[in-house]
Amino acid sequence: MSKEIVKHFNKLLTNELTSVRQYLLHSTVLKDNGINKLAEKMKNELNEELEHANKLAERILLLKGIPNFQDTNEISKYDGEFTKDTIQKILADNFKLEEKGLKDYKEAISVAEEEKDFVSVILLEELLKSEEEHLHWIEEQINLIELIGVVNYLKTQI
Ligand SMILES: [Fe+2]
Ligand SMILES: [Fe+2]
Repeated sequence: MSKEIVKHFNKLLTNELTSVRQYLLHSTVLKDNGINKLAEKMKNELNEELEHANKLAERILLLKGIPNFQDTNEISKYDGEFTKDTIQKILADNFKLEEKGLKDYKEAISVAEEEKDFVSVILLEELLKSEEEHLHWIEEQINLIELIGVVNYLKTQI
């Protein structure tokens, strides 16, 4: 078992658990403000992140490492005021989160490749693809808001 790859897996696990908390925050805030479709989408994202965390933890255990469920990174803050700008802040914060995720997945893939741990490579590539889709979806929403304006966008998400 390589300590180095387990270290990377645990870093990714921390990212995923952080994503779960952030998407849960956004899903509940959006739902409370009647933006139900977007709230539902955030809930789906959080379930996907949870599944990623699950797969990472399983692989860590298989590699005879210890999955770290203690740590988390800082998440997006909600100040209790839901305004037109809140939606852009949510998307921008999630963009940052996914961008960091992608970077760390790519790093972990290089380490797994160096160590010829090809099963880890396959798993990490699968998860990287999923994060790429998350990031792409966020980019689409940001572009849509720019095109049609935040009010029109929100009308499609209630
Ligand atoms: Fe994820
Ligand atoms: Fe993600």
